[in-house]
Amino acid sequence: MNMFELIDKLEMEHVLSGDEYCALIGSVTPELSEYLFEKSRRIRHQIYGHDIFVRGLIEFTNYCKNDCYYCGIRRSNKNAQRYRLQKDDILMCCEQGYGLGFRTFVLQGGEDPYFTDERITDIVSSIKRLYPDCAVTLSIGEKSRESYEAFFAAGADRYLLRHETANDKHYKKLHPPELSLQHRKDCLHDLKDIGFQVGCGFMVGSPYQTVQNLAEDMLFIKELQPHMVGIGPFIAHSDSPFNNERNGTLELTLFMLGLIRLTLPEVLLPSTTALGTIHPRGREKGILAGANVVMPNLSPVSVRKKYMLYDNKICTGEESAQCKDCLANRMKSIGYNIVVDRGDWRSPENNNIGIIPGKEEINELRS
Ligand code: 5AD
Ligand code: FES
Repeated sequence: MNMFELIDKLEMEHVLSGDEYCALIGSVTPELSEYLFEKSRRIRHQIYGHDIFVRGLIEFTNYCKNDCYYCGIRRSNKNAQRYRLQKDDILMCCEQGYGLGFRTFVLQGGEDPYFTDERITDIVSSIKRLYPDCAVTLSIGEKSRESYEAFFAAGADRYLLRHETANDKHYKKLHPPELSLQHRKDCLHDLKDIGFQVGCGFMVGSPYQTVQNLAEDMLFIKELQPHMVGIGPFIAHSDSPFNNERNGTLELTLFMLGLIRLTLPEVLLPSTTALGTIHPRGREKGILAGANVVMPNLSPVSVRKKYMLYDNKICTGEESAQCKDCLANRMKSIGYNIVVDRGDWRSPENNNIGIIPGKEEINELRS
């Protein structure tokens, strides 16, 4: 089978073998990519139309007890200026975000012991009380099953925890010995089991990553069946052990987005900030490769530059309203509309966009 036929097969069957994924990922050309993106876009349009879901990202702490080699807020980075937002600050971000039309708030942070289960559940339940029509997503790393259960009971709807790589040897090259892929996977299974909508994901072009590793990521997500998959290019951080490593590429990241859309047609697929960082129109290109979610920054401008996971991160100088308008305009420029909607995952039986209530376009919010 040639590579174009493999894409036809993926379109029909929504899965390939590890060797087949490998063959495809190892043969990326502009022609093959365009062939893939036509199909990944088509299936995205069948399920989600030209709608784009937005999630307001609140980066509430950059303290982290972990030491992942790729990350700018790892505990060993003494140059990072640490901050944490208090509950009131977070609620102010939500208030602003709600006014701008956001119906999902993503609370993301390092693994910061200050934020005990009590503090997190208090924040989550306050947001849900004030904004019952909104979804709350947590992205705060590896916790015990009991903690996850407490967050869920407090009203958290979703949880993002990127697996980073599905290959154990590769995982060890990106993380210190105290972290393990097995524990990460256990967390993801617990989260799913508890009832969260779950997002996993990985970096494209991270140090030591092989084509086989990326194929393993595809098989892992096919098996896990997450509701969301967040991927972006690896971008070196100058104060990390990987400061001299090469960045992931736009081309390969887009190709992986297309493969993920054909593999899990209903999945929520963000066009990430990292993608927008390596190319000025990276996020637009991500949408055209099959992505359907964007996550503008809702953090207070005063802390944005401090949440530097990688060098040259975009959107660190803008106000939330500017960020949202900027993204709405970018999406409009390629024929897509940002919608006011919790943007829940659509089950295969329920994926005709006409029958999802409560959705209105927010043209009036666009300049
Ligand atoms: N380049 C790209 N992505 C990164 N992340 C962390 N550091 C980097 C980097 N240097 C991603 C990880 C993490 C998410 C919050 O950000 O995948 O899960
Ligand atoms: Fe944040 Fe453009 S999306 S400034």
